[in-house]
Amino acid sequence: MIPFVSGDIHQDDVQPVKPRVFVTRAVPEPVREALQSCFDPRWPRTDAGPIAPADLLAAAQNCDALVTMLTDSVDEAVLAAGPRMVANYAAGTNNIDLVAARRLGVTVTNTPGVLTNATADLAFGLLLATARHIIEGDKLVRDHAWTGWGPQLMLGSELSGHTLGIIGFGRIGQAMARRAKGFGLTVVYAARRDADPALSRELGARRMELGEFLACSDFVSVHCPLTPETRLLLDSSAFSRMRPGAILINTARGEVVDEAAMLDALESGRLGGAGLDVFTGEPAINPRLLAAKNVVAAPHLGSATGETRLRMGMMVVKNLQEFFAGNTPPNRVD
Ligand code: GLV
Ligand code: GLV
Repeated sequence: MIPFVSGDIHQDDVQPVKPRVFVTRAVPEPVREALQSCFDPRWPRTDAGPIAPADLLAAAQNCDALVTMLTDSVDEAVLAAGPRMVANYAAGTNNIDLVAARRLGVTVTNTPGVLTNATADLAFGLLLATARHIIEGDKLVRDHAWTGWGPQLMLGSELSGHTLGIIGFGRIGQAMARRAKGFGLTVVYAARRDADPALSRELGARRMELGEFLACSDFVSVHCPLTPETRLLLDSSAFSRMRPGAILINTARGEVVDEAAMLDALESGRLGGAGLDVFTGEPAINPRLLAAKNVVAAPHLGSATGETRLRMGMMVVKNLQEFFAGNTPPNRVD
C-alpha cells in the first residue's frame, strides 16, 4: 500500500511539475495551504503519531523533499532513498544523520530563531513550578489533602538573589538570561565561546568553565543542541559537583543529561528538583522519574505555541521555495 495520499489533485498539464514534498505530520492549516500552493505535497494517511520508519523510507523513495519532525529518524537509508532536501520542522537537527546528508549531497534546513521566546518561557515556567512546588501543590489541593495554610508547608526556593547557570548561550539561552535578569537572578553560563561583550554586560552574564559553573549555580538550565560533544554532558561527576539541592531544568534534549545519574541525584536528595520538557527515549518515561520527588514533567512543549508553530511552518515553506528556486535556503544546516 502506498503510505501517502496526494494533497493536490489538480495538476495542470501546461504548468511545470511541482516538486513532490512529503510531510510526515499534519501541520497548521495556513502552512498546509502554503505547501499546496507551491508544491505537490503528500501526507501519511493517518496522523495518529510519528510516522513508522518503514513508511518514511517508502515515502522518501517517491519524493523530492521531506518535511520531517524531531521524532523522525532521518537516517542514511532515508537520505539515500532519493530526497534532495530535508526541511526539519524543528530547531534541533539531532534526528538527522548530517554526516550522511553531506556525503549524499542532501540539503538540510531547520527552523532557528522563531521558537526562542516560546522555549525560554517554558523553561522559566518549569523553573518557577519546580522551585515553588506549584504542581505538587496543585495535586495536594485536587486530592483534598490540603489541611490549611501552614508555616512550613511546601517551602520552596526564592529565585531572586540566587544564581541561574545556563548551559549553551545561543538565542534560547540568552532569552532565558533576559527573563532571569527580571527576576533578580545572577546569570552565569557555560558555552564553547564568550558571548558578545555588550550582550554579556547587558545581561550581567559571566562565562565559566563547567566545573566552576556547576559549583556556583543554584539552578541549572540546559539550552545547548544535542551533538556528540554534548551527549551525556551532565553525568554523575557533574551532578556530584552541583550545589546540594540545586534544581535542573531541561528544555533542550533529554540525552544531554545522563538520566540514570540524574535519578540517582534526585533520589539521594543531592538534586533538589528537576523541571523537564525532554527525556531520554521519549515518549517512554523511566518509572523512577515518576516516583522521584519534585519532578515537573512536560511533554516536549518548548515550541508549542500557536504563533511559533505557524512561524516554524512558514519557515519550512520558505526554505523549500528557495531550494527549489535554485537558491541556498536561508536556514541551511551545514
Ligand atoms: C524542539 O525541540 C525543536 O528542536 O524545535
Ligand atoms: C535556536 O534555534 C534558537 O532559536 O536559539
